[in-house]
Amino acid sequence: MTVLGIESSCDETSAAIVRDGTIVSLVIASQHEIHAEHGGVVPELAARAHTERILPVVTATLAKARLRPADIDAVAATYGPGLSGSLAVGFTFAKALAHGLGVALVAVDHIEAHAFAARLTPEGAALPYPWLVLLVSGGHTLVAIAREPGPLEVIGSTVDDACGEAYDKVGSFLGLGYPAGPALDRLAATGDPEAFAFPLPRLNHADERFDFSFSGLKSAVVHQRDRFYTAGRAAGAADVAASFQHAAISQLFDRLRNAVRETGISTVVAGGGVAANSELRRRLEAERAAGTLSAVVVPPTELCVDNGAMVAGLGEVLFRAGARADLAAGISARVRAFRGGR
Ligand code: KG4
Ligand code: ZN
Repeated sequence: MTVLGIESSCDETSAAIVRDGTIVSLVIASQHEIHAEHGGVVPELAARAHTERILPVVTATLAKARLRPADIDAVAATYGPGLSGSLAVGFTFAKALAHGLGVALVAVDHIEAHAFAARLTPEGAALPYPWLVLLVSGGHTLVAIAREPGPLEVIGSTVDDACGEAYDKVGSFLGLGYPAGPALDRLAATGDPEAFAFPLPRLNHADERFDFSFSGLKSAVVHQRDRFYTAGRAAGAADVAASFQHAAISQLFDRLRNAVRETGISTVVAGGGVAANSELRRRLEAERAAGTLSAVVVPPTELCVDNGAMVAGLGEVLFRAGARADLAAGISARVRAFRGGR
């Protein structure tokens, strides 16, 4: 089964070919240079860039796989959540392509696709479910239970900013450009993580014990650093970065530990752009080595960031299970309500 996957929910135009669970080709065209001068993704510019890039990206993906369009058995595309203009470009392109080729169209949920990405790695392909999925990016921060490829039971999510968003805001404050996550990660490696004791957020309700909050940490770093300073320590940009990173990643682990304890699931899969973070990877590996986590899979960075391979891969599984979207299928910008009543 040969599936073309298309991803355009935010600011990456990406396509991939997956055949029988294996990636044959993957192309990711990032728009960072377009949004950098604005310090964040500008939806209208993102949609316009997708419009320009979608055909070259899909053509390049087919060429890399040495395939012709007629070799494709199904087209899978992200239908949501994400920016509506961006989603519409990729999903409508996929609809037209599938219709023109006379093959099936499969609509894929972006968050479920991120959780599936680990399945495309050798370790993840053999990893028995259930998994705890830690998804951390510029747009989402959540912890979910995956019992099979596809559906997720989201048990915690951010009540305000996403973790990557906090990285980008703090990084921009430190003059690290956009997106600042990777540069902040590198700078943090040279600083003192205990120079500033930035606190863990306190969420007040028991049903928030798996939830995240990053806006307080962001304001603490930008506006109230001195309150958290440990006298006598160095206080340069690298120390601010290291202390922020320590607080941000510690919060992820605090919630993850609650989730492991209460669900009894100790197999952890990470995804999203922040899963590229060196401190997150180091600590996940340390927990695995210590036995608190039984297995850990963090895919390579190109499968953590927004990419077409996760869409093609999950699309193939859904297609085999009978999923079909018709020409009337639409995009859905909103994140589905994770839990009743909230
Ligand atoms: O998944 P992604 O490519 O796009 C979405 O947000 O959906 O994630 C991008 C985010 C940005 O906020 C970026 O700063 C962050 O991931 N990021 C990192 C690192 N690499 C990327 N954050 C921390 N450490 C990193 N090494
Ligand atoms: Zn994403």
